[in-house]
Amino acid sequence: MEFISSLLWAFWYILPAYVANASPVLVGGGRPIDGGRLWKDGRRVLGDGKTWRGLIGGVSLGTAVGVPQYFITPDFYGSLKTAIVLAFLLSFGALLGDLVGSFIKRRVNLPRGAPAVGLDQLGFLISALALAYPVKTLDSGQIIFLLIVSPFIHWGANYFAYKMGWKSVPW
Ligand code: CTP
Ligand code: MG
Repeated sequence: MEFISSLLWAFWYILPAYVANASPVLVGGGRPIDGGRLWKDGRRVLGDGKTWRGLIGGVSLGTAVGVPQYFITPDFYGSLKTAIVLAFLLSFGALLGDLVGSFIKRRVNLPRGAPAVGLDQLGFLISALALAYPVKTLDSGQIIFLLIVSPFIHWGANYFAYKMGWKSVPW
């Protein structure tokens, strides 16, 4: 029972990062963050899949999740400010990891939207956990659990978005 509950807390903790990572597909679009610029290798710095609207919208929506989270489980966070700062760091971390992932994909010549197994599913998670670490962290068992289940959630969410017509590829 205690084991199950620790896994549920891990989901609760990481929720803002999942929301931040999932929302750009709906709220993104428009001007790309790299402004269309090329890196020294002649390829795009990040590509058209990374937009300002996706970044700002995703960070905002993910951060907003911290508010209901605090009111539902105040003891888990201690204060509203902690919950919001944590949600912001998880969200910003998730989308920063996503940008780093795209930067790496462009450097190895993968076009926008091409799958990069591992990077696509875990980059955002590792970066979110790292940025949030100073405020509040999980124990190592919970982190391992998230590393194992997040790729499946990521694939499931992307398949759903594809079926809904929000995305052109199911990954
Ligand atoms: N998106 C966005 N801004 C971001 C991140 C994502 O607008 N900062 C939107 C884009 O429409 C993108 C979609 O969400 O196509 C899905 O995100 P993702 O799979 O991360 O991007 P890809 O198109 O696969 O691009 P990349 O190959 O660079 O990962
Ligand atoms: Mg993708």
